Amino acid sequence: MAKKLWGGRFSKKTDPVFEIFSRSIHFDYKLAYCDVWGSLLHLEVLYKSGSGVLSLPEYTVLKKNLHIILGEIGSGKFRFNKKAEDIHTNIQNELEKKAGSAALKLHTYRSRNDQVVFDTKLFCKIELPKIIQLIQKVGWEILRLKEKYPKLIFPGFTHFQHAQPVACANYLQALFNFLGRDVQRIKAAADRITLTLGSGALAGVAIDSSQYTQATEKLAKEFGVRIASLSSSIDSVSDRDFIIDVLSVLSILQMHLSRIAEDFIIWSSPEFGFVDIAEEFCTGSSLMPQKKNPDSLELIRGNTGKIYGNLMSVLTMMKGLPLTYNRDMQLDKEPLFNSFEIVSSELKVLTGLIKTLKFNETKIKEQLKDEGLYATDIVYYLVDKKVPFKDAHTIVGRLVKYSLDNDIPIKNMAESLLKKFSVKLIKKEIVKLFDPEKSVKSKLSIKR
Ligand code: ARG
Repeated sequence: MAKKLWGGRFSKKTDPVFEIFSRSIHFDYKLAYCDVWGSLLHLEVLYKSGSGVLSLPEYTVLKKNLHIILGEIGSGKFRFNKKAEDIHTNIQNELEKKAGSAALKLHTYRSRNDQVVFDTKLFCKIELPKIIQLIQKVGWEILRLKEKYPKLIFPGFTHFQHAQPVACANYLQALFNFLGRDVQRIKAAADRITLTLGSGALAGVAIDSSQYTQATEKLAKEFGVRIASLSSSIDSVSDRDFIIDVLSVLSILQMHLSRIAEDFIIWSSPEFGFVDIAEEFCTGSSLMPQKKNPDSLELIRGNTGKIYGNLMSVLTMMKGLPLTYNRDMQLDKEPLFNSFEIVSSELKVLTGLIKTLKFNETKIKEQLKDEGLYATDIVYYLVDKKVPFKDAHTIVGRLVKYSLDNDIPIKNMAESLLKKFSVKLIKKEIVKLFDPEKSVKSKLSIKR
């Protein structure tokens, strides 16, 4: 059993089943690095505040050993104690082992309630830029794909029905824009996180919080983040908005990844055959030898349940909590870490998949023969001949219906028949409109 950070008031041992139930070390070990950083800052303030709590030798030995621990964590050599209640306990016990009795003073004017918020905020500040970098890698691959197929046109869909021809570049730019907004949102969420120290358990501590702000220079150098002044210790230890905020922006990103996955899954089916997903990102069937399944994309789509679930779990966990800290809040970290992990691996998989994605131009051309795709262009042809749009819409609607009901392609209709639909305005020349390039080029509203 690891030494606890509390216990004096208790005469009985913790129930062993509850002891295990209450632990968070198996997941909050991820906060180790941030926790030691928090301790280093606290140490600085404790020593320099003039409170006289620490002597110079005590300050020196603590600083030295905290740096040793930091180094061990960084190099993967730190041995986590699976029996510690949480990461704060684990680091404190290790410091006591290494630095001796001076370590017993480090917790002066602090509480784990304050530590855990600081650690988790710093963790988010470090991890969010990594997600941004991974998104940018997907973005580069999308742009590269766009360059590979500058002229490709395929049928665009609304309601999952053939709508109008669209440039592949237009589609890929949409995906790029989705992810661009995700980057903005994630940056903003990271900026909204303000680190504080000095809340104690809830009431604040006898240290002027501007001291923390001053000690923050090192943190600023290392991570580009600063400690803000503390306007309410109650807010600081009660607040988990930042976790909900991060889980929200990751959920929006996930929604985008899932939609991208969905399009590519559909387009890779033999019915569509628009894209070929490289074998490296597919799996086979243990029963049907012919299968090449887009499992990578299905897993991305499927993970949406987990990512939204993580957001829901923290929102629900927080909703009825009286201010300030409650142990329920320990349960915020697994969803947070889980979402970071899932989204990171999805972005890595998607980068490779898009890098190797191929469009099947022959299959796409076949689909572009659908005359329905050009119906809107015939409407505009009539509009150019001064027919009011709504009348033109009705005329072409009837023409399309006649073509479908009688199984005659419009291009095979005699001019005399065409004219019946349009007070003589539709001429045989409309067959020239069944041209994907022409159709796409006529859409002047898109900046190319
Ligand atoms: N492991 C706890 C958490 O993650 C740390 C805070 C514990 N504070 C307390 N008063 N029990 O929330």
